[in-house]
Amino acid sequence: MRKFALVLAAFAMTAAVAVAGEITVGFAQLGAESMWRTANTDSIKGEAEKRGINLIFSDAQQKQENQIRSVRSFIAQGVDVIGLPPVVNSGWEPVLREAQEAGVPVILADRTVDTSDDSLYISFIGSNFIQEGENAGNWLVRELKGRYGDVSGEVFELVGTVGAAPAIDRKKGFENILANYPDLKIVKSQSGDFTRAKGKEVMEAYIKSPEWTAAKRKIIFGHNDDMVLGAIQALEEAGVNPGKECILIGVDGIADAFEAIAQGKMHCTVECNPLIGPQFYDMVEAIVAGKEIPKIVYSIEGTYDYYCAEALLPWRRTLY
Ligand code: AHR
Repeated sequence: MRKFALVLAAFAMTAAVAVAGEITVGFAQLGAESMWRTANTDSIKGEAEKRGINLIFSDAQQKQENQIRSVRSFIAQGVDVIGLPPVVNSGWEPVLREAQEAGVPVILADRTVDTSDDSLYISFIGSNFIQEGENAGNWLVRELKGRYGDVSGEVFELVGTVGAAPAIDRKKGFENILANYPDLKIVKSQSGDFTRAKGKEVMEAYIKSPEWTAAKRKIIFGHNDDMVLGAIQALEEAGVNPGKECILIGVDGIADAFEAIAQGKMHCTVECNPLIGPQFYDMVEAIVAGKEIPKIVYSIEGTYDYYCAEALLPWRRTLY
């Protein structure tokens, strides 16, 4: 483990000159709440091993205070670079400033933070969550036009972790599209914390609500696939045929969602790529080598529905 000096106090775009030796990275993973997260952890761990990078990994169990504690411990241990997927997007400035003052660059991996001072982190690698919300909205509009010739319906939203960037931004992106269609409305919106169990719980409550009884076209938009898969369980247990009586859209593109689509239980999943290990360590190595790096690196992502899910399922199983 060794330390390298930052050229600038605020590490804007260019960082550090490396001293030869092993690279040590501290990665403060936020939890293990979804299949997406498991794939993300595997990608971060697997790629470190492949490259001979010394990885110090921690799991915060969806608690910001645990992540902050890990970041402080990585600073104290003198790691070269810190990887951080912030569980929520606010409250990071003090600890990011501590990292900056200690000369340890922080890469935001997967999720962003809400700050007016973007010199507090060196780069963001991950998805454009607003775009993902818009992809879901655009798919829904096309689907409604194709099926019914008009764009109307009642959306039951399964929101991600409260205060998390993907929950805030996917909602924003989805609503950007809905804003053009006054007869397509979100009638219920509640957090399922990105987990299958909570997605099921929220859906059970939705089914009992007057809005559900009154809804003519029942649409379920989940901020991730795990919550939608939990909702499908709740619907089936309540005797509702999800594929026939509802339209279900998730985000992530996990293989289990492809399978549910192939089985006719779900309709669409918007991709969010968790396999960012290779880009993450490319960036770590570039930072240590003192190269200039971009401030934002977005993943390229698609949208998959019932036209292709069955054919693509075997390939998807090899990914996540
Ligand atoms: O930050 C990415 C999101 O976090 C994924 O969509 C979700 O499944 C995970 O929990």
